[in-house]
Amino acid sequence: MAFPAGFGWGAATAAYQVEGGWNADGKGPSVWDTFTHQGGERVFKNQTGDVACGSYTLWEEDLKCIKQLGLTHYRFSLSWSRLLPDGTTGFINQKGIAYYNKIIDDLLANGVIPIVTLYHFDLPQALEDQGGWLSEAVIDSFNKYAQFCFSTFGDRVKQWITINEPGILALFAYDLGMFPPGVPHFGTGGYQAAHNLIKAHARAWHSYDSLFRKEQKGMVSIALFSGWVEPADPNSMADQEAAKRAIAFQLDFFAKPIFIDGDYPEVVKSHVASMSKKQGYPSSRLPEFTEEEKKMIKGTADFFAMHYYTARLVKYRENEKGELGICQDAEVDFFPDPSWKSVDWVYMVPWGIRKLLKYIADMYNNPVIYITELGLPQKDPAPLDDTQRWEYFRQIFQELFKAIQLDKVNLKVCCMWSLLDNFEWTQGYSSRFGLFHVDFEDPARPRVPYTSAKEYAKIIRNNGLEGCL
Ligand code: GAL
Repeated sequence: MAFPAGFGWGAATAAYQVEGGWNADGKGPSVWDTFTHQGGERVFKNQTGDVACGSYTLWEEDLKCIKQLGLTHYRFSLSWSRLLPDGTTGFINQKGIAYYNKIIDDLLANGVIPIVTLYHFDLPQALEDQGGWLSEAVIDSFNKYAQFCFSTFGDRVKQWITINEPGILALFAYDLGMFPPGVPHFGTGGYQAAHNLIKAHARAWHSYDSLFRKEQKGMVSIALFSGWVEPADPNSMADQEAAKRAIAFQLDFFAKPIFIDGDYPEVVKSHVASMSKKQGYPSSRLPEFTEEEKKMIKGTADFFAMHYYTARLVKYRENEKGELGICQDAEVDFFPDPSWKSVDWVYMVPWGIRKLLKYIADMYNNPVIYITELGLPQKDPAPLDDTQRWEYFRQIFQELFKAIQLDKVNLKVCCMWSLLDNFEWTQGYSSRFGLFHVDFEDPARPRVPYTSAKEYAKIIRNNGLEGCL
């Protein structure tokens, strides 16, 4: 089971989840600083990312982990408000630049390719105060921030992700209100935010394309989350259609405009429009792109970056009462097969990744694909010997192998989520996704490899599954 020569084996982290140093050296607050400091039990035990893994001061320890694994790629995100404390280029924090320069230089010196995410959920609070992603003004701020990052780091960074999981962000932050700013806008806020996120991504891609690409020769994409779905009753037309809608609402919603034609999937547009009508709205709750915007959005990704964690069965559920919400618009119910084992929300369905990869290859013209996240948590306390979790990872790698060899999917890189146990958003430190265990009680935040880390290192060394547990 040898992978193609040059296959990329990576691991990922995100600034707020690992860095700590929330107000160190002139960093401005992000929405996650504000949200966690407000308390109110919205995050497990009111935990915060104030210190997290301490990566702001302990980067060298992270580098040791990266070298121990033998990673070819390391994906991390820049904290926007560490670089630009109020979100604008009006004031630039040199200490922030120095921190990321060191990471990038150390990675390159060790032969590790950086994949850099510009924005991973941690919007500068100053921009949230002006409406955040509900406001169109943020698009311009994001574009200027992106240009600043390309011009500061782009001489060395060649693989960029503009925005992490716009779908999860729009849904959790602006529709359901579970992520900061914490205010629900059921059935409206998510679409509005998603609309601005897509435009912001496209603007940043064009900035790269017109101002930096020629000299820097890098690639820019956006990281899209999607679960896999299967119709609960494979013989039911209604469930089959529901499964298609489930993918359309979460993945194609972003991928179709960006990769195909600048516009949302028809099934999404028609469902939101007819539900909005039923609810008495004067027009669809889903905003429309102008023709000019469609042209601007179409074709703004140089590779396909996807995340896979889990799968669900889906059933058609008529939204008879006209309830407000994105799942309600899609008229789908998601639930697991009773035989699937799970840790938290992650039902372990290794074959789902092969199906998702095949779907993307078929729908999006066989693009170069990077898996920029893939993982399974352990509940705290987690045993260092996580052989069981490794068994799942091994099955996942087998599925990737089949996707490449049998389905001819153009998969080039796989990044595990995550390098380290870290601050898992509303679940705080109770959910451990790391290849390395981190002791959050110990001020030194020691990193210790799980069995999975040692096995992953073997995979990387052998470029395949030979010799693994
Ligand atoms: C993703 C997210 C990561 C991480 C992971 C595990 O949605 O990008 O930050 O938290 O899920 O839940």
